[in-house]
Amino acid sequence: MNCISNNDGKNYVKNFGYLKDGTASTVITLKNDQGTEISVSNFGATITSIKTADRNGIFKNIVIGYSNVTPYEKGTPYFGSTIGRFANRIAKGKFTIDNVEYSLPINNGNHHLHGGNKGLDKILWDIEKIDPQQVILKTVSVDGDMGYPGDLTVQVKFSLDSGNNLRIDYQASTNKKTPINFTNHSYFNLSGDFQNQINNHELILNATQYTPIDSEFIPTGELQYVRDTPFDFNKSTIIGKQIIHTPFGFDHNFVLDKELKHELYNDLYRAATLTDPTSGRSLQIYTTEPGLQFYTGNFLNGTLNTENDLPLNRHTALCLETQHFPNSPNEPLFPNTILHPDTIFTSSTIYSFKIN
Ligand code: GLA
Repeated sequence: MNCISNNDGKNYVKNFGYLKDGTASTVITLKNDQGTEISVSNFGATITSIKTADRNGIFKNIVIGYSNVTPYEKGTPYFGSTIGRFANRIAKGKFTIDNVEYSLPINNGNHHLHGGNKGLDKILWDIEKIDPQQVILKTVSVDGDMGYPGDLTVQVKFSLDSGNNLRIDYQASTNKKTPINFTNHSYFNLSGDFQNQINNHELILNATQYTPIDSEFIPTGELQYVRDTPFDFNKSTIIGKQIIHTPFGFDHNFVLDKELKHELYNDLYRAATLTDPTSGRSLQIYTTEPGLQFYTGNFLNGTLNTENDLPLNRHTALCLETQHFPNSPNEPLFPNTILHPDTIFTSSTIYSFKIN
């Protein structure tokens, strides 16, 4: 149940339109003294807009998003959504826990992707707490939901501080062993203009290895060194220079090296730095997660439009999805993704917005 039926006089809380069944959805806008504004809807715990300044003080929205719930309910390629119960792919939708085989819906070729057709991105979350700096959303995915075992309680907190850090904290608990993997699926273009390709953006990924995949995007189970391959982003690299060496663009999980700590939140390590040399906007990503899926909007093909009705073409936005590795429930050597009933899972990621 949505515990906030109106905005209770809070001008940063607004109606986000109605679902097909008539239920109201909500959008909350966090703002700081630097003028940065981040909007989060309780539909899919979705980031719908991130407005940051460029080096001339011009604010633009740098993520793909809409101002009403309808396109999200119809289905987008996960624009800004919270992904769960399991982000990325589970091969053939199958895994086994304690000799019991579970089958999940197949929604991506032969495989299960991003929690199934009605994952955490397509439900209305309860609003637990809001103030101008933070929003806490919560949901319970019941035993058997999208084929997963256990009643899973998930909480996501989005908070914006005065240093332009958007921190996302995930927390989860279950009453049966179950695989989990959460991420945020924001599509960035730091120019704020989604008619531009992201090829001129410069990227650093703090990863000396990645998980190679087969032709259906399932990891082979090995870890491979990025050195001397197009996957080497250890030094700042123009994405366009590397993307031409891949068949369709990047859609790969990188194994993060945990070296540089965040100066304030030092349980988080720097995973990536993305910079748009033209606008001067830069995004640093810190996380507690072991992996990051770098996806260059390869499946955007002009059929979906921006809020202003302009077509979204291939490589006009990119995702940097902090997460555990794809298909982990079937790869015992990958970091564990099975949550046990007696533990509370926590995970955090920071998007830190800077100007160069
Ligand atoms: C993830 C996947 C991609 C694609 C997008 C959504 O990033 O790795 O292959 O499915 O989500 O379109």
